[in-house]
Amino acid sequence: METTDLRSQGWFGRKGKDGFIYRAWMKNQGIPDEEFRGKPVIGICNTWSELTPCNGHFRELAESVKKGIIAAGGFPVEFPVMSLGETLIKPTAMLYRNLASMDVEESIRANPMDGVVLLCGCDKTTPSLVMGACSVNIPTIVVSGGPMLTGRYEGNNIGTSDIWRFNDAVRNGDMSQEQLTVAEACMCRSAGHCAVMGTASTMACMVESLGLTLPSNAAIPAADSRRKVLAQYSGQRIVDMVKEDLKPSDILTREAFENAIRVNAAIGGSTNFVIHLLAIANRVGIDLKLEDLHHNSAGIPLLVNLQPSGKYFMEDFYYAGGLPVVMKAMADKLHGDRITANGKTVKENYADARSFNDDVIAGLQSPFKTETGLAVLHGNLCASGAVIKPSAASKHLMKHTGKAVVFENIEDYHARVDDPNLDVDENSVLVLKNVGPVGYPGMPEVGNMAVPKKVLEKGIHDMVRISDGRMSGTGFGTVVLHVSPEAAKGGTLALVQDGDLIALDVENRSLELLVGEDELNNRRAAWKPSHPEATRGYVQLYQQHVEQAHLGADMDFLRGCSGSKVTRDSH
Ligand code: FES
Repeated sequence: METTDLRSQGWFGRKGKDGFIYRAWMKNQGIPDEEFRGKPVIGICNTWSELTPCNGHFRELAESVKKGIIAAGGFPVEFPVMSLGETLIKPTAMLYRNLASMDVEESIRANPMDGVVLLCGCDKTTPSLVMGACSVNIPTIVVSGGPMLTGRYEGNNIGTSDIWRFNDAVRNGDMSQEQLTVAEACMCRSAGHCAVMGTASTMACMVESLGLTLPSNAAIPAADSRRKVLAQYSGQRIVDMVKEDLKPSDILTREAFENAIRVNAAIGGSTNFVIHLLAIANRVGIDLKLEDLHHNSAGIPLLVNLQPSGKYFMEDFYYAGGLPVVMKAMADKLHGDRITANGKTVKENYADARSFNDDVIAGLQSPFKTETGLAVLHGNLCASGAVIKPSAASKHLMKHTGKAVVFENIEDYHARVDDPNLDVDENSVLVLKNVGPVGYPGMPEVGNMAVPKKVLEKGIHDMVRISDGRMSGTGFGTVVLHVSPEAAKGGTLALVQDGDLIALDVENRSLELLVGEDELNNRRAAWKPSHPEATRGYVQLYQQHVEQAHLGADMDFLRGCSGSKVTRDSH
């Protein structure tokens, strides 16, 4: 690309009053004139925020990216976007994923940028940034923030998945409040995102397997100096991507999505992968369906022994060789000719990867588990689909019929779950309604609801649970999620009553409510929505336009790409 063709020259290359205005105000930051004369302008889209602790080190990371951009002859400009901290944002960060993506899209398009580096970390900060950037489609590279170092408590390794265990232990009386407070300080002992194969790590693997990052991006711990080196190299590389005009639409082909789905199965990635990948595909115009996720995952065993499906942590994953080892092991199952951000193909990038610990990353011949990472279910209870993560579920519950114990919403669940009079035992099926995209609203991570105390007291930690919500990527259990259509939209889930029989059969991919069609029709005729409805602002816009889970829960008006052209120019 000639420097005169740079998009940024539509601002900085102008003569007269307009060019004066575009450059003069920028110069108040001490930028010399030559910076504006044909250097590729690279945006660094930063989700740093003290309210997003997983991304708390991103100002430093951005400095490394800048070094690379400058070394390659580019002009770095860092800008903030809405940052979504999973642990603090109420009612759920997912409610704002689409809003953040709009911020990213419009910030990139409206400003003089030729390429962009996305700094992503905590769960939603990856899909929101990628979705937004895809809808602009200028050269883009992702730098993930990296996982935290493994937590250490009483001599043992701990990570986010242990929160659920600690919670059960406290409820059971096996752990004191004082011990819990000590564990709290031991969990997050360095910069970075959750240290297990939760959603943030899954997203970091997703962007690498899609080809949007440099190799090895996924697993380098945030505290490891090599994370800064990768950031610097990414800054360097984006300048060349601009010259080559290598855009997301060149990288994100259907085959790239298939690669990501297969890799996600092999790493036991979070169920949230489904919803975010579908949303990203919709932005780049790839017709990806829930079924594609199932078919591309089918038969792929779990190679990675990481919590919550296994025992190790992201730090161990990196030391064992990281995602490159998985990509190499799966070479025969991947589209090796797909181009990636560094200009090389998948095959070229990963051909020389070496495993340093087969217990952490197994080979295809001797996988860690044979259950695939994800199964898509169908049946009258989920006409448009639902998902379950078999690798995190209990084997004996994968085929199970039980009586429904129904909670109409999350408040109802909290009010009654530990009631000693609740008619529930370990064979029951817990059903939680109105936690879908529209119903909650925002589809929170409550699908792996804790089992009732009276069941827990028998030493039983898992039951079949079904909802239209999501589950934290760090969660586990026999949990059916993303039931679509959701209860608030009148899906069959809305019609389930206490005592109804529900049959789950993961092997045959079915989820059925065993109630006759006539009875269901009667219930349907009498059904009225009972979820809260917003009367103004973003939440109202969200409830009116959010699509169902099986489509990615993006806004209907955000599908596709508007490109980078700014159609009106007021100067
Ligand atoms: Fe940020 Fe887990 S809370 S990644």
